[in-house]
Amino acid sequence: MVMKKILYIPGPSEVEPETLLELSKPVIAHYGPDWHQLYNETCEVAKKIFGTEAYVTLLPLPGSVCLEMSAFNLIEDYGEKFVAITNGFFGDNMVEMLLSHGANVLKVESEWGKNVNLEKLEETLDENPETKAVYLVHNETSTGVLNNLKKVAEAVKKRDKLLVVDAISSYGGVELNFDQLGIDFAVGYASKCMSGLNGICPVAISKRFIEEVRRRKTSVKSYYFNLTKYIRLSQEWASIGHPHPTSMPTSVVRAFYHVAKKALEEGLERRYRRHADIAKAYRQALRALGLNILPKEEDASPTVTTFIVPENVNGKIRSALYNDFGYMVSGGLGKLENMTLRVGHMGYTANPEFLIKLVTALETVLKRLGIVDKRMDISDELAKIQENLRQYTT
Ligand SMILES: Cc1ncc(COP(=O)(O)O)c(C=O)c1O
Repeated sequence: MVMKKILYIPGPSEVEPETLLELSKPVIAHYGPDWHQLYNETCEVAKKIFGTEAYVTLLPLPGSVCLEMSAFNLIEDYGEKFVAITNGFFGDNMVEMLLSHGANVLKVESEWGKNVNLEKLEETLDENPETKAVYLVHNETSTGVLNNLKKVAEAVKKRDKLLVVDAISSYGGVELNFDQLGIDFAVGYASKCMSGLNGICPVAISKRFIEEVRRRKTSVKSYYFNLTKYIRLSQEWASIGHPHPTSMPTSVVRAFYHVAKKALEEGLERRYRRHADIAKAYRQALRALGLNILPKEEDASPTVTTFIVPENVNGKIRSALYNDFGYMVSGGLGKLENMTLRVGHMGYTANPEFLIKLVTALETVLKRLGIVDKRMDISDELAKIQENLRQYTT
């Protein structure tokens, strides 16, 4: 018998069978009336999840490359100042990306597992008034910390700077409020909290950001990443339903449309609450197993949980979960590589059934490896958790 594998990693996340069926529908072209309608309707739904009326597009690129589009368009001169907030692997990647574009990157760092250092951010912005933009990872997938976007946005807007947000592992699982917070550029994701398929990312861009790009004295040093081209084609080629300079993975967009509509049908508020409640239940269950969660309770992410395991058994736990149960969890990233394990509870799998399956398997593995006492019994705790999550039981 072939074991059903389940992706408990923080992306790509498990995809529902009915979403996969969308891929079996006849392929449509990336222009013409059918595409025009699908593309526009998908962008409309994507906008609601961003919480914006601004320009939203779908880019057929990985998330980090979508983020790089902001750098191509913003960075004009070598040595321009940009603030990058970093407290994990993906924050560090953003720093590296900005450096590779010739930016003078002012890092606002905090320890991995801790939230943003707001005081340092304000101090850095006040000492460097010529800063062009601030970059933030909303949900640091490497540490399981949900960064304080609201407070960062307040500090950035108060000083009238642009704000670029990597919302790759929060989009569809945590409220973003793009317009209300005054975000200027945000990258969402299809195959994490949306439980869609890899291949496109929704990207929201403010009017302010577009105006900033239009004010450039030199042209953007890229053919593909030139934002003004996208804006122009979305108007000029609108009549032939071809809003992009390139072809598009139309079937993947159709699958994204399907999951995005489902997210709206569920109700965004309820969806965000579901993610937060499931994450809290994971932390409760993991603590009952004697494990420590990396971030403090108030900083913990609603979409990915990072917990500490002894270095010598890190790989063994992961492989036992995968080989014996078919459950794939992630190891740590960067300097946390052998110290932590990460579980994604995103979209479809942010659900009590998936939680109980994984925690029960983990209990068995930990007992087998002698990490917890064989007599340990967390069934009462799990029963309480299930009772608390009854509203999400399907
Ligand atoms: C917060 C965050 N940023 C960026 C990325 C990179 O995404 P991609 O591999 O699609 O470039 C990831 C991937 O897990 C992520 O979680």
